[in-house]
Amino acid sequence: MSDDRYCVFGNPVAHSRSPRIHALFAEQCGQAMTYEAIEAPREDFAGAWHAFVAAGGCGANVTVPFKEDAFRLADVLSQRARRAGAVNTLVRGRDGRTYADTTDGVGLVRDLEAHGVALEGARILILGAGGAVRGVLDPLLAKAPRCLHIANRTASKAVRLAEEASPEGRVTGGGYAELDGAFDVIINGTSASLGGELPPLPDTLLAADGVAYDMMYAAEPTVFLQWAAAHGGRGIDGLGMLIEQAAESFFLWRQVRPDTAPVRETLRREL
Ligand code: ATR
Repeated sequence: MSDDRYCVFGNPVAHSRSPRIHALFAEQCGQAMTYEAIEAPREDFAGAWHAFVAAGGCGANVTVPFKEDAFRLADVLSQRARRAGAVNTLVRGRDGRTYADTTDGVGLVRDLEAHGVALEGARILILGAGGAVRGVLDPLLAKAPRCLHIANRTASKAVRLAEEASPEGRVTGGGYAELDGAFDVIINGTSASLGGELPPLPDTLLAADGVAYDMMYAAEPTVFLQWAAAHGGRGIDGLGMLIEQAAESFFLWRQVRPDTAPVRETLRREL
């Protein structure tokens, strides 16, 4: 019997750390599987997935720009995927159907917890109102924070997303100009870091002993984490979130939960 095949679809995808992470998980857990990176054509994600399945593929991760395409092609969506409107994990079922889930939100919460960040009762601020943020709101709310506020460059998007996430008003949204008060945890879910940019943030935004979490990661601290350090906060980058979401996908495919701590250390060394 040949090894079970998995992959990550993206475009571009050559930079992806997922093949490395899943190879480490497979080795650690003694799983007979392969995991490769596949660049799917932007206009035909469905074709790439079905060709992979026809060639024996068992499951896949999905990254930019295909998370919504994967959502649309799924035969069966998990409840959290339906809420997020996007998926990062596909599973070929025994019945031939495509099952889809999103593990990004649980990945973020697990990484925050692994770093000892208390979410219950915390004042949480999220920067950005795109797909990356939509996927993490429910798991954060489930931790019963004191408040969860979304700030975005386009304020109307933050307001709309907050209303969708919590019609009963547990999430609020607005622009950067109206930001007021201090937060215990600030999560950067904008793509601004990619371009080395920082949203305009008041100096008093991070509470004493506050935590700044950037969903992005790089070998050097991102501009957002530099801002946090300059304001006395503790900074955490998104490498752990990447590894935790991968572990949850691995569990969906293999029903085995890898130990993420050694993998995090290895990946950090390799950055
Ligand atoms: P993703 O799926 O990664 O979330 P997206 O849906 O394109 O990508 O969302 C990108 C987010 O980063 C948005 O919240 C965007 O703000 P707008 O909604 O106002 O466009 C935010 N963003 C991108 N570049 C930014 C910048 N230079 N400053 C502030 N916010 C930025």
